[in-house]
Amino acid sequence: MAANRFNGYTDFGIGIGLRIPHYQHIFAEKPVVDWFEIISENYMVDGGRPLQVLDQILERYRVVQHGVAMYFGSAQPLNREHLRRLKLLARRTKTPWLSDHLCWGSVDGRYTHDLLPMPYTREAVAKTAANIRQVQDFIEIPVVVENVSSYAEFHESEMTEWEFLNEVVEAADCGILLDVNNIYVSSQNHGFDPLRYVDSVPADRVAQIHIAGHSKFEKYILDTHDHPVLEPVWGLYARAIERCGPTATLLEWDDNIPTFDEVHGEAMKAAKFLNSQGAQVLPQVNTKELQEIIQ
Ligand SMILES: [Fe+2]
Repeated sequence: MAANRFNGYTDFGIGIGLRIPHYQHIFAEKPVVDWFEIISENYMVDGGRPLQVLDQILERYRVVQHGVAMYFGSAQPLNREHLRRLKLLARRTKTPWLSDHLCWGSVDGRYTHDLLPMPYTREAVAKTAANIRQVQDFIEIPVVVENVSSYAEFHESEMTEWEFLNEVVEAADCGILLDVNNIYVSSQNHGFDPLRYVDSVPADRVAQIHIAGHSKFEKYILDTHDHPVLEPVWGLYARAIERCGPTATLLEWDDNIPTFDEVHGEAMKAAKFLNSQGAQVLPQVNTKELQEIIQ
């Protein structure tokens, strides 16, 4: 597959999310990590401790920005102040791409702080793609959109979720952050074949992949990011890597966060899949246990 501005980051390997409980360990031990993903909104401030921490991280590591408040799918105009701050932060981090979710979450200036599912309609495709294009033009960095997990669907939908994703990214000419855990969660909640979803994604637009753990309840499963990646999600990940080739991969672990080494060890399980497709993810040996996991 020819490299383009979305899929050319084949050397990025495996990253983990930068989280407060790990700050001390990272600064003291200086572990080997390919890159950190930061939540942009946590650092869109004028100064103080968050930016001090970020600058210290940037001295040693590559950082990729992931946002949670752009709401590409909202009908209201984009928040210009949010965009201005995001661009300032992007200049600081030199993030090679910038991601946020394919969702909506705001109405008339009021924000839900939730990643709400889209109605899969042609009208929503047009509006969402126009928003993504505006952001991409303003930020001047490739924008990639992430599929969210969902627990409800709209009667108005005119297509499947994966058709919607395809139409949006073609119309916006943007990249994809493929969250294979979100695909699995939604497939179980809505009763579709998750492999069909993975197989239909335009592989040459996938800039990054998210893996994460979820929780299974009696009637639904929830995207909790609070424990290791489950087997079916590794299966989807393997298929995605087969189709997309070596792709920057990030483990999300946001609740009940264990030690740094435990999170990193879980993330490094992705190495065997990446290396089977020609990547050269090195055994990043932070501990003996880690070495055993990736051998
Ligand atoms: Fe995700």
